[in-house]
Amino acid sequence: MSANHFIHQSAFHTKTLNLSPNSTKLLLSKFAHPLSTTQITPKQCSLRAVLSQNNPSTTITSQPKIDNFKHCFTKSEDGYLYCEGLKVQDIVDTVEKRPFYLYSKPQITRNFESYREALEGLTSIIGYAVKANNNLKILEHLRKLGCGAVLVSGNELKLALSAGFDPTRCIFNGNGKLLEDLVLAAQTGVFVNVDSEFDLDNIVAAARIAGKIVKVLLRINPDVDPQVHPYVATGNKNSKFGIRNEKLQWFLDAVKAHPNELKLVGAHCHLGSTITKVDIFRDAAVLMVNYIDQIRDQGFEIDYLNIGGGLGIDYYHSGAILPTPRDLIDTVRKLVLSRDLNLIIEPGRSLIANTCCLLNRVTGVKTNGTKNFIVIDGSMAELIRPSLYGAYQHIEMVSPAPADAEILTFDVVGPVCESADFLGKDRELPTPERGAGLVVHDAGAYCMSMASTYNLKMRPPEYWIEEDGVVAKIRHGETFEDHMRYFTGL
Ligand SMILES: Cc1ncc(COP(=O)(O)O)c(C=O)c1O
Repeated sequence: MSANHFIHQSAFHTKTLNLSPNSTKLLLSKFAHPLSTTQITPKQCSLRAVLSQNNPSTTITSQPKIDNFKHCFTKSEDGYLYCEGLKVQDIVDTVEKRPFYLYSKPQITRNFESYREALEGLTSIIGYAVKANNNLKILEHLRKLGCGAVLVSGNELKLALSAGFDPTRCIFNGNGKLLEDLVLAAQTGVFVNVDSEFDLDNIVAAARIAGKIVKVLLRINPDVDPQVHPYVATGNKNSKFGIRNEKLQWFLDAVKAHPNELKLVGAHCHLGSTITKVDIFRDAAVLMVNYIDQIRDQGFEIDYLNIGGGLGIDYYHSGAILPTPRDLIDTVRKLVLSRDLNLIIEPGRSLIANTCCLLNRVTGVKTNGTKNFIVIDGSMAELIRPSLYGAYQHIEMVSPAPADAEILTFDVVGPVCESADFLGKDRELPTPERGAGLVVHDAGAYCMSMASTYNLKMRPPEYWIEEDGVVAKIRHGETFEDHMRYFTGL
């Protein structure tokens, strides 16, 4: 893109853009939602870069049914996609690099609030699963809202500490935690889940090195089928995670044998991800509370029940009613209160997935044999869920198609040199023009955090729309120069 600017005018907005590839401060646009029910006052909106502290040298049906639920991305009757009242096409035209991730900060807040409200009346920790999305700005925002953090590596633990999370509201999970990471966990005082016999040995060793007693929860595998894709099922008996329930006594004896290293404070389970039936959580909670009774019977004073994460979201945008955080919490509330327990939950996807889209541009359209393809600049490198799990993520155009655009069935594919490189299959869409904006929805969780640089497609920048309509950069896009730095001085 040229170093400057253009002036674009339409019936709905006036925008002046002054932009260079290296600019960190991108300014201005004025526009208002044309179909807004309130008076149409052009809203001053600016796109600016927030300089990261870490300047780079992160079967299902409808959205959570939340009282006064409001989704941030809406297709208006004018055929344009809006996010928090801003026309997404204008943002696509303005940013310095595509594809890019675009989040709604107010939607993150709304999602968190729905959990917080659901948990009223219980003593609880909402531990955000950092693996879902590790953007530092998002972590800081969630921490300010009151979240704890759930971590699965030493680096996630370091990141959570950098984002200011209170270690006593953090939980360190994992089936292969490394000794050095466990030492950091012991030093900082986070809860640690015990996953296996060797994991317990390592936690004991870490406690000795740190000179601290580690507060541990036993990750018990309740053997409940979460009825999800096998890649995201974690709580069945053949899973690599957690301890088999029949080995519980061995672990209790091992904890008893290490009073100077371990303090057992609770029990944990995580069934899987994209779960759409709350009965599954209740079945697991009933089993877990029974284990807690057995553990207490042996004299352990344990207070915490951690039921993990896993609530699904409306990837299909089909309008079906999915369980809300309130449905989830209500299904375990009585059990938790009956044992006077503190409840820990570990949501990732349901906090962050629907707050974000991946914004792409159409490179071209082609037909081979009986297949039509829309080729976009985004790919499996930026967003791998469809290729990895065959996951469905809703796709639509950002702006109305020309009146004569033929509606066809397309595979939406990227430029990566793999036939597995697709973002969507068999999607009915108007034949787009080159350069048209195309959005992949619900890209807040397990998308940027799973992005790679395959084919040397560098990880994309991230932006969010703030409460006042400002579009701010929350992560720089990676560059070729970043890649070359790994080889300097060798
Ligand atoms: C232990 C643990 N807790 C929490 C989560 C978050 O799950 P979700 O993003 O489905 O809420 C995961 C993800 O699989 C996990 O492994």
